[in-house]
Amino acid sequence: MCGIIGYIGKRNAKDFLIEGLRRLEYRGYDSAGMAVMKDGRIFLTKAVGKVAELESKIRGDARQAMLGIAHTRWATHGKPSETNAHPHADCFGNLSLVHNGIVENYQELRDMLVGKGHRFVSETDSEVIAHLVEEELKSCEFEDAFTRALSALQGTYGVAMMGVSDPEKLFVARKGSPLVIGVGTDEYLVASDVSAMVGHVSKVIYLEDGEMAIIDLQGYRVKTLDHELLEKEEQILEWSQEQAQKGGHPHFMIKEILEQPKSFEDALRGRLLVEEGLAKLGGLMPVEERLRKIDRIVIASCGTSYHAGLAGEYMLEEYAGIPVEVEYASEFRYRKSLIDERTAVIALSQSGETADTLAAVREAKRKGALTLGVVNVVGSTIARETDAGIYNHAGPEVSVASTKAFTSQLAILALLTLYFGRMRGMSLVTGKRIAEGLRMLPSLIEKVAEQSEPIKKMAKKYQDTPHFLYLGRKYNMPIALEGALKIKEIAYVPAQGYPTGEMKHGPIALIDEQSLCLFIAPKDSVYEKSISGLEEIKARGGRVIVITTEGNEAIGGKADEVILIPKTLELLTPILSIIPLQLFAYHMSVAKGYDVDRPRNLAKSVTVE
Ligand code: F6R
Repeated sequence: MCGIIGYIGKRNAKDFLIEGLRRLEYRGYDSAGMAVMKDGRIFLTKAVGKVAELESKIRGDARQAMLGIAHTRWATHGKPSETNAHPHADCFGNLSLVHNGIVENYQELRDMLVGKGHRFVSETDSEVIAHLVEEELKSCEFEDAFTRALSALQGTYGVAMMGVSDPEKLFVARKGSPLVIGVGTDEYLVASDVSAMVGHVSKVIYLEDGEMAIIDLQGYRVKTLDHELLEKEEQILEWSQEQAQKGGHPHFMIKEILEQPKSFEDALRGRLLVEEGLAKLGGLMPVEERLRKIDRIVIASCGTSYHAGLAGEYMLEEYAGIPVEVEYASEFRYRKSLIDERTAVIALSQSGETADTLAAVREAKRKGALTLGVVNVVGSTIARETDAGIYNHAGPEVSVASTKAFTSQLAILALLTLYFGRMRGMSLVTGKRIAEGLRMLPSLIEKVAEQSEPIKKMAKKYQDTPHFLYLGRKYNMPIALEGALKIKEIAYVPAQGYPTGEMKHGPIALIDEQSLCLFIAPKDSVYEKSISGLEEIKARGGRVIVITTEGNEAIGGKADEVILIPKTLELLTPILSIIPLQLFAYHMSVAKGYDVDRPRNLAKSVTVE
């Protein structure tokens, strides 16, 4: 949730730290802080609110140092305040620490340290780490004190630390919370997320759980906490700076919505063999033999990724003939899920760091299942811990509300449908039809996104609506759920997403002249059935925006507004019908004056349970 950035080199640390924090703000943003080391002294600045607040408070020597760490916080233990903001210090301000994760035994450690005379100033679990190191420093050097302190922790951490007793080094470690080292020329960055260092370094090293690194101007050493030296591979960082910025748009969300023709195409690139009606998925090659033998798929994911999984279930069962179950990852490990070595568990996750999804992967592995990751962030924990997987290649998704990652997940689920389908008897003709349909989609997505202006007008017109109902049937049922989630999370309007047929079992009671229904009814195999639902809403005075297929303009007589999407294969319609709903939520949030990219109470990557 929170973001860490650190710098050591010959240039001004503050500039890298502030820029890195800005890029990390989407992870959590109730407060921020920065500490730099100059002439053997630590200078600390903290502020509640956004990074701009912090920057305006940085004074004097803190503006000119070459080593420093910084953090944006999303509160877990202790309310948002300057005192609770990171970096945290020991009793005398001789060391400084930033931490992501949760120290589960912090109360016990805090009591022990208070008993030894340590004075705590914050309510956070993180501060115990600083005091633990301080305590250990009484009997050893900084490096040993750092590792001994970490060994005493239960829970998770990504940490970066520096201390005046070893003032030219940066210490970092990871267990359960991501930490990446960026390697530049005579300088190094560390961060919880590579997007903070894009454009500054071209190589990165991903720390694994239980690993630490000591970095100075001469280089870095990576070790286990037991001091075993490790050889780590430096990987090329492919994301460009331009990709990580807004590209001239007012918000990341609209940039990411409009990027979907490209991100969708990138998900298919090199994988779709139209003439053979096949999907070539290189990441699955090592486990292909095992995949031939599976008899069941479980998709584990959260939020928007869960909705993509639901659409994937319909595709895979209809065209690949494999039983599929979609599970909330947050439930997976708490119930008895019947999986075994013939089950493939697919973890769908944009960030690859969602704690619940990661826990589901670990539980599935324990039960002997084959685990596959469909992940956007390269090198993320889920990508590394699954047996095999497929990257989305959607590029960095910065806005908290997920959009392009969702459609790229749908692209990959459609590729998986082809992959499994053709392995299990899908005909060449059907394979070619789906592959051709997929190939056409980027230009169709573009066409739908061109309707941003009329959708903006609709959002303004209905901006005072007190509640929304989103309905869709079959392939578009998950889109109703996803449309409702989008409007809830960024426009803060109560919204329900339901299968159209469920409306009469309860939600119909919500319909009155004030309500607005977003009704997804493309001309597909269930169109006629859906339309009776529309009549029922109109009969009760409800207002309706219908999303339907081009050529079906006649529906206008039954609806208050119509949004048209081009014709495509039924299983691919969700990839088009979600676009107007993303745009509607975006424009509604802007019309209401909300902070679109940073909705209240939410964080981009939910790395706590
Ligand atoms: C909604 C949203 C969240 C995420 C969920 C899972 O717009 O972004 O619901 O989809 O937290 O995140 P990932 O896909 O990173 O596992």
